[in-house]
Amino acid sequence: MQTDPIGIFDSGLGGLTVLRVLRELLPHENCIYFGDTAHLPYGNKSPETILRYSLESAHFLIQQQIKLLVIACHSACSAALESIRKDLDIPVIGIVEQGIDEITRRYSDGTIALLATRATVHSGLYERLLEQRNPALKLFSLACPLFVPLVEEGYEAHPISTQIIREHLQLLKPKAPKAALLGCTHFPLLRPLIQQELGPDIPLIDPASACAAQTKTTLIAHDLLNPQTSPGTTQFFVSSDPEKFRLHSKTFLGHPIEHVNEA
Ligand code: DGL
Repeated sequence: MQTDPIGIFDSGLGGLTVLRVLRELLPHENCIYFGDTAHLPYGNKSPETILRYSLESAHFLIQQQIKLLVIACHSACSAALESIRKDLDIPVIGIVEQGIDEITRRYSDGTIALLATRATVHSGLYERLLEQRNPALKLFSLACPLFVPLVEEGYEAHPISTQIIREHLQLLKPKAPKAALLGCTHFPLLRPLIQQELGPDIPLIDPASACAAQTKTTLIAHDLLNPQTSPGTTQFFVSSDPEKFRLHSKTFLGHPIEHVNEA
């Protein structure tokens, strides 16, 4: 089982920002990434629909004999983490729990802003987990539904994005948050503009590193770390339009992908 791959899924390209960090931390692991591009975006769909798509995505990866599953998509995690855990008999790492871990490690009280999709905000999962972990910490959750299409369409450095980000984030300023959690796979690509808008004193937290670290800890705890010394492989699958995914992937992953399979 140790040489089996890690499975990681997202609604589309965004989870590549998580895969990128995972690969850096665990270079000897084999990975299989699944992007559910046929159903992207998850973030403006109903909880029932996201649950259905997420279970299908998880099951696709199970068929590929994965040893551990990473749910990189915050919207999927918010709607389906519990059901996926009940359904699978392998360890499941959810990005939302890692976001909460990171916040509680860094702060003991005050308000933290959560920037996320509508589905993630409406699920209330971040609030519930934070309340359990540290009731002295409060979350101010802000749905930013226009941010995902900006990134998907390659507008992450365009002046129109500055304007849209400003419009959304003005609601945060009166709340004086200590930090802002990037609660969506696409938002790390808007980091410079979000930082510019919030100012240099508000740290932006991307849970991708915590997610990768937890994956490593879990592999060690289950004696599942791959002993191979050569670099691991990564295979990419999507549910629609592999070529579009391949062409856009470099922005998210940092390097080009040679081949993407249609699932
Ligand atoms: N991957 C989603 C998330 O992290 C963003 C894109 C979508 O709405 O599907 O919430």
